[in-house]
Amino acid sequence: MLISEDRLCQSTILVVDDDPKSLRLISALLEAEGFTNVVTTTRPSEVLHLFAREQPDLIILDLHMPERTGLEVIEDLKPWITPSSFLPIVMLTGDQAAESRQQALKSGAMDFLTKPFDSAEVSLRIRNLLTTRHMHARVENQNLILEQLVSERTSELEEARLEILDRLARAAEFRDDDTGEHTRRVGEIARGIGLVLGLSEEDAETIRRAAPLHDLGKIGIPDTILLKPGQLSPNEYKVMRRHTLIGAKILTGSDVPLLHTSSAIALTHHERWDGTGYPEGMQGPDIPLVGRIVAVADVFDALTHTRPYKDAWPVERAMEELAAQAGKQFDPAVVEAFTYYLSRNGSASG
Ligand SMILES: [Fe+2]
Repeated sequence: MLISEDRLCQSTILVVDDDPKSLRLISALLEAEGFTNVVTTTRPSEVLHLFAREQPDLIILDLHMPERTGLEVIEDLKPWITPSSFLPIVMLTGDQAAESRQQALKSGAMDFLTKPFDSAEVSLRIRNLLTTRHMHARVENQNLILEQLVSERTSELEEARLEILDRLARAAEFRDDDTGEHTRRVGEIARGIGLVLGLSEEDAETIRRAAPLHDLGKIGIPDTILLKPGQLSPNEYKVMRRHTLIGAKILTGSDVPLLHTSSAIALTHHERWDGTGYPEGMQGPDIPLVGRIVAVADVFDALTHTRPYKDAWPVERAMEELAAQAGKQFDPAVVEAFTYYLSRNGSASG
């Protein structure tokens, strides 16, 4: 963590003193000590300009100057010095008065040099302050690197989490749709309906990500029922209906909003507006909006695509079916929003 002699000597030092003789003296002293970037001025009014141009690592400032005192110059500089930058300001005083020293310290000076200078003392103090300055910068830099690393890791974790959810949805659909296209389209349509209904971008995106998990509970349905080519018996249908409860059970109890929404969708996407759906027989607006949205998206997509037991319906026919079921199976407002979405987005199947 040590600062090299080279790095110290390359530091930029700005010296401000109205007395050219004193300025030459201190400048010569610093150069004799090996400092190669010493910038000087006798004009306090030039300090701001020089500060901006040279970005000094340390400022040596005469306290008593006729044009503008050292204290006033510190005030001028304050807006440009950030609290985390640790810029040492050393005040040059010709007097030993405690009062002016205290005043300077209060204003933000970090140290004093009393004229006439003792070259060994000047050198030691300047080196100490510069070492602190550079170590401070190094720590700041490392903090920045750490913050960046933390932020990169956080977004990697977030991506991994989202990808796992996508793959979980695919696993759920794998037995009857090994491409995962149905769940993806349901997500897209559900997002579109959400936006038409006035949901925020963020909430609509949550639905897009959550909707593909609506049939996750099919993982728990035996193949003999899930893949049965013909009509299900009443008992088999009863088992099939349990995919809503199984899905909700897998997804419930999380603080993550996405999983919370997924769980509500898994549980309620087969509820019907008229109260004859399952598993709870919820009715009307008691059914969570996300469940009502995914109900429409799911049925539309299933109707308009080929399934082992049926051909794909044309969009117009599927829309007639949705319209006929508005107020029965579906929330009429959601069907209306979907109709509008479809009119703006073509087939909506992506
Ligand atoms: Fe389902």
